[in-house]
Amino acid sequence: MGNYQEQFRPQFHFSPKKKWMNDPNGLVYNDGVYHLFYQYYPEDIVWGPMHWGHAISKDLITWKHKSIALYPDELGDIFSGSVVLDVTNSSGLGSIEKPPLVAIFTYHLMQGENAGRIDYQTQGIAFSLDNGDTWKKYDGNPVIGNTDIKDFRDPKVFWHDESNQWILSLVAGNHAKFYRSDNLKNWTHLSDFGKEVGAHGGVWECPDLFKLKVEDTNEEKWVLLISINPGAPNGGSGTQYFVGNFDGERFIAEHDDIKWVDVGTDNYAGITYNNTPNDKRIFIGWMSNWYYGQKTPTKDWRGAMTLPRELSLIKEDNHYFLLSNVIDSFNNQLSNVIEEESINLDSPFKLKYQNFNQTEIKFRINLSNQIHLKFKNEKEEFLIFEMNPLKKEMSLDRRKSGLVKFENRFADNVHTLSYIASDKEVDIRIMLDWSSIELFIDNGKYVMTEQIFPTEFYNSLQIASIDVISIKNFKLNTIKSIWDR
Ligand code: FRU
Repeated sequence: MGNYQEQFRPQFHFSPKKKWMNDPNGLVYNDGVYHLFYQYYPEDIVWGPMHWGHAISKDLITWKHKSIALYPDELGDIFSGSVVLDVTNSSGLGSIEKPPLVAIFTYHLMQGENAGRIDYQTQGIAFSLDNGDTWKKYDGNPVIGNTDIKDFRDPKVFWHDESNQWILSLVAGNHAKFYRSDNLKNWTHLSDFGKEVGAHGGVWECPDLFKLKVEDTNEEKWVLLISINPGAPNGGSGTQYFVGNFDGERFIAEHDDIKWVDVGTDNYAGITYNNTPNDKRIFIGWMSNWYYGQKTPTKDWRGAMTLPRELSLIKEDNHYFLLSNVIDSFNNQLSNVIEEESINLDSPFKLKYQNFNQTEIKFRINLSNQIHLKFKNEKEEFLIFEMNPLKKEMSLDRRKSGLVKFENRFADNVHTLSYIASDKEVDIRIMLDWSSIELFIDNGKYVMTEQIFPTEFYNSLQIASIDVISIKNFKLNTIKSIWDR
């Protein structure tokens, strides 16, 4: 058993104890427990016949590993999907006293694919009557068969109050499909979305449809997340979103531009929790990219999740933006090391610290200012973040950040994010773990998540600017490890 101190092991992000993990699945809260199921291959550290791994948490911060929830069977391997709490026992799989958790997932029949067929993905369900500890497959599977659609997967289900029915979204190659049901077993196709809108550089995956209130208004909007691979702004896998309306039958987007949840290279297949207390919309993504995800230089395990993020929606100049912010309670994991009310950048600010790879760095700056941040170790491995108002571009450069040669596309480019360089004071928040960086700027309006593999911890930080400025409220905080050792 690992002690979670192996080289590159995330210290405050979820990762499996051993072996391969990709997408988060079945995110659901029930009876005091946040469940995290995930795409899991227990035999190797590369992708293989998929199972659903399982972990639980009371706070979304520290996790307990559980045994595998769903194993492949004669209908196929278990691809991505979701879990709902069937409170009224509409499915009849439990009882009113013991409402079942129902998992809705994709069966992927490898023999079918290998035989050159195209109808090898179908949707199945399974249920649990002991809050996720043990699962039984429904004996009438599949609940949605395949007619002739090659990529037909990743069902996300929720209860739609307004129309009093279960709604299921799934993807079918270049678009999303919506279905309805009264009992989670019989599904009727309602509508399609997306053939002509959004990014189409690759296949659509992992849809998620939910409602959000627009901050500081009484307006409500529907948001549809769609992962796409390849075709993301900085290469490979990424997640776009649409804002619009859903009437119980049809989703209509209200914009033509393409919007991304996160412009970094390593936040994919993210979905949100069902059934959370206070209706919070909490998102977790797989912190990797199919371009190189199977080749990253970890040894006994591979894969980690992003920090759980609360999503919110704002409207600025008639445009909607989805904001991602680390859940508030994560602040309890922080201890302050250095705090400076103001740092003058007439000359570069230099800070030494033994290990930046388990810290949060935070400060305020005007969006119209230029800034250059560099984390470095004694081996001259470094990671650069820059904000350039002239180019209207932020950038993250991991080309020399540590081990990068395991796959060309990991570090062939500086990764960029376009922004509006207005005269506005904003916060910059950086969460650095042993093998990742998460950047949140302007209250989570601009987000970049990326993996890094420094062979020693970064131990110096330099902040410089060509403008005559000072940064405000600078903080360096350490982050507690989430693993019991
Ligand atoms: C996304 C994905 C899903 C699929 C799963 C298979 O990363 O390709 O579409 O269900 O991974 O592991």
